[in-house]
Amino acid sequence: MAHYVDLHSHFLPGLDDGADSLATCFSMVRTLVEIGFSDLCATPHQFAGRFETPLDQVRLVFDQVSREIASELPEVRLLLGAENYWDDVLANRLRQGEPPCYDGGKAFLFEISPAVMPPRLAATLFDIRVSGRLPVLAHPERYVAVQRDPAVAESLGRQAALLVDLAALSGNGDRAEVKTARRLVEEGVAHAAASDMHQLEDGAAIASGLVWIEKRLGANAVRQLLNENPRRILVGQLP
Ligand SMILES: [Fe+2]
Repeated sequence: MAHYVDLHSHFLPGLDDGADSLATCFSMVRTLVEIGFSDLCATPHQFAGRFETPLDQVRLVFDQVSREIASELPEVRLLLGAENYWDDVLANRLRQGEPPCYDGGKAFLFEISPAVMPPRLAATLFDIRVSGRLPVLAHPERYVAVQRDPAVAESLGRQAALLVDLAALSGNGDRAEVKTARRLVEEGVAHAAASDMHQLEDGAAIASGLVWIEKRLGANAVRQLLNENPRRILVGQLP
């Protein structure tokens, strides 16, 4: 096993637009393990008005899946996080000092609107960093402002860990996203890469994103983006 760490995936069943059943969930986990992941973070959406499962219910689903996986794949470690949309729910949780972090630690995953940068984003991220937490931005390649201006990603990357989607690196999907994801990795602006797996069919593009990193930048870059940096992020450090 390559011992990669996946900081972003939607394999927990019935909580968002990811796995639709327990059977699909297990198949997705097996696929990620075959690709080389040993540490899988479940990050179901928390998105006001769309995906609002209370966190204690999310925890129940995670615990059930964890028990089953522990007996079938004891070498695999599952961790619970969330993909938090940048909305009032997250703002309130941050104010109360309890955003849904990875494994109850200091780092938390978030996403923003693709079309419009939230006002005062950089300043708010700075305040969050000062409070001791590490924001982790999902798929920076998806945001129009990042696509248009490389300086935007560089400045965001000083306050938040930038986590590109492997499928975008593979060349699948929107042209601007592919181009931006590759640029962020080639220029060393992205801190890590992740699966963002929503369905079993995503496995092929995730695997070929890994192949792209290895061919373009070599085995060291794979180790950094899929192993060393994600492990640092999990303990709250900006790589
Ligand atoms: Fe996601």
